[in-house]
Amino acid sequence: MYEILKSERLVPNIHLLKIESEFIPKKARPGQFVILQADERGERIPLTLADWDEEGITVIFLTIGTSTRKLAALKEGDSLYTLVGPLGRPTEISSHREVLGIGGCYGIGAIYPALKAFQEAGSSVRTIIEARSANLFYWTDRLSRVSGEILYVTRDGSKGFTGHIDQFLKDYLKENHPDLVYVVGCTFLLYLVAEATRPFGIKTIVSLNPIMIDGTGMCGVCRVIVGGKTKFACVDGPEFDGHEVDWNVLFARKHSYFDEELRSLSFFECERYG
Ligand SMILES: Cc1cc2nc3c(=O)[nH]c(=O)nc-3n(C[C@H](O)[C@H](O)[C@H](O)COP(=O)(O)OP(=O)(O)OC[C@H]3O[C@@H](n4cnc5c(N)ncnc54)[C@H](O)[C@@H]3O)c2cc1C
Ligand code: FES
Repeated sequence: MYEILKSERLVPNIHLLKIESEFIPKKARPGQFVILQADERGERIPLTLADWDEEGITVIFLTIGTSTRKLAALKEGDSLYTLVGPLGRPTEISSHREVLGIGGCYGIGAIYPALKAFQEAGSSVRTIIEARSANLFYWTDRLSRVSGEILYVTRDGSKGFTGHIDQFLKDYLKENHPDLVYVVGCTFLLYLVAEATRPFGIKTIVSLNPIMIDGTGMCGVCRVIVGGKTKFACVDGPEFDGHEVDWNVLFARKHSYFDEELRSLSFFECERYG
């Protein structure tokens, strides 16, 4: 059950797993996620659906801590302990004059299903991908199939614009007028984009990634404040209007277990390497 069909390091720190699943691909829609567990002692973690077909689902993740390192160590033919999904509300897809998709880190892969759906609905799509350096870009061939143009932003200037995404958007949005911005990636990227589009009044959908446990609205750990109201990102989201998100609360809650995460990682490294 939940056999690993493909395990591939895409670029340093970003890994792809294709996992056998009969039922999830039949229900999956863009913007949704799964919760999975690498082994019996592992933590349940949420990952966005980056693709799916009749054989199974594809997830793409940053290898950051214990659970994602355990997942990255799985080989073809190994199995996951659990896999649940699809979870969360799908992206609201409709036809737009121009959708600007923005992805960083795992979001370079995870924006693909929604951009494909926006294009199929008749929207013109442009994509910006950002990374520290050009060697961290991947899936550009896939993204070019669903985007009229791909623009690159690198912090070291090795490809495209040099600097941070918000610096790029400040001038870009004076000349270009998308009617929807759709962003997936780390929380800081989501925040920078939402703040950059706010003065231009462009609707900006962000895929939030707070800590989650059950993913079904039971534990409350994923609560976020959006438009002054408490929402559970797993069942009310994970996608929200970025101009309505209380970013201070989100940043504070994301680091609640920082000490435990560090301890877990050092136990894992000791077990693995002695
Ligand atoms: C709806 C949703 C979709 C996501 N999709 C992706 C994805 O497609 N690819 C990807 O790389 N990451 C994704 N994430 C984030 C991913 O779940 C975390 O990076 C992962 O859980 C880290 O686990 P770890 O043990 O390797 O790291 P840890 O060392 O345990 O934690 C590192 C950081 O990851 C975050 N994190 C830890 N545990 C959880 C948890 N149970 N739930 C959410 N965040 C956690 C915390 O901010 C923490 O500081 C998503 C999160 C959510 C909520
Ligand atoms: S993860 Fe438990 S309520 Fe959302």
